[in-house]
Amino acid sequence: MITVDVQVREAPYKIYLGEGILDRLAEEISAQNPSSVLVVTNVTVGVLYAKKVCEISSKICRTEVVYLPDGERYKSWAAFSEILEALAQMKADRHSLVIALGGGVVGDMAGFAAAIYMRGIDFIQVPTTLLALVDSSVGGKTGMNMRAGKNLLGAFHQPKAVIADTAFLTTLPRREVSAGLAEIIKHGLLADAKYFDEIEREIDKLTALDHEVVARVVARSCQIKAAVVSRDAKEKGERAKLNLGHTFGHAIEKLAGYGTWLHGEAVACGLVLAARASQKLGKISSSDVQRIIALVKRAGLPTEIPGISLSKAIEAMKSDKKSSGGVIRFVLLNAIGEAYVDELPESILEEVLLEGGFVK
Ligand code: NAD
Ligand code: GLY
Repeated sequence: MITVDVQVREAPYKIYLGEGILDRLAEEISAQNPSSVLVVTNVTVGVLYAKKVCEISSKICRTEVVYLPDGERYKSWAAFSEILEALAQMKADRHSLVIALGGGVVGDMAGFAAAIYMRGIDFIQVPTTLLALVDSSVGGKTGMNMRAGKNLLGAFHQPKAVIADTAFLTTLPRREVSAGLAEIIKHGLLADAKYFDEIEREIDKLTALDHEVVARVVARSCQIKAAVVSRDAKEKGERAKLNLGHTFGHAIEKLAGYGTWLHGEAVACGLVLAARASQKLGKISSSDVQRIIALVKRAGLPTEIPGISLSKAIEAMKSDKKSSGGVIRFVLLNAIGEAYVDELPESILEEVLLEGGFVK
């Protein structure tokens, strides 16, 4: 098992990483000395893993479980209120603990419920998708979608620990593995050119879930995210770079209908759009763009999603959290391995969207 420190000032914590390390959860629950535990999961993950997690937890204190419906379209008020009602029903108090067992959807919603129940209780992340292992379980962004846009509601609420057990990946569908690879490629692109080279070299082993390569890459991605979050937990500046591909991606998810394209798939298209825009600004070369497109394809991810209205996409991006006064701020590339945040001239934005399959 290896550990990665997330050094957020108000509440530092550790990511415990390895294959078959779920039992570590017992120590982390005990360390919180909770009055009770609510395990939040969904109907798919719960069938596979809730029993084991409840066994671990119920040896320490009273434990209940709530099963949410599965899918991005349930990252909504109706499903969210089920978590709050479950907490109230079991008479959870300020010393109760939430365990988020699932992918990014469960993690974001369980974390948000923990952030607001009784003005905030503790929670532990137990990520079960590749995407959640390398990205969403780390950094304390919690929340859910509104009709107006992705993740518009939420809170920064850091977990007490992340138990990142790669053994969960054995049951993960292929398409979800690829979705996780989008965030891994993102980490290389925004922060570390050598890491991008490594992902390129190892992409076939990654898609095949080779144990040794997965362990190395999950650790490196967690280190990259942890370092950024440690410097800027509340996204006052640098953390915005972690949203590379996301301004485009969130618009795609919303306009295609939540769940039509997986978050990672939409982000993958967003990475390609951001790369094309960066090329048009003279920051990266066309061969860089071709490298990025080739890697996204080899990861089993789409490079464009045809048929989405260009004007609606621009409208949707104006309500992105990084926008201010209707001006959209994009994460762009100075080079492979170096991101920055800036506006994009409308002419370039329209050009890249049209090249990416959006329609007038
Ligand atoms: P997800 O949570 O919907 O999980 C994907 C699918 O895999 C679901 O059907 C789930 O039931 C299933 N699943 C999960 N673990 C499994 C396992 N081990 N075996 C079999 N099936 C399993 O999707 P995701 O890709 O994990 O997360 C996407 C969400 O994460 C989006 O809502 C996105 O906004 C959010 N996100 C948040 C952050 C953050 O910093 N908070 C960062 C990135 C993404
Ligand atoms: N996924 C972007 C962030 O965590 O800041």
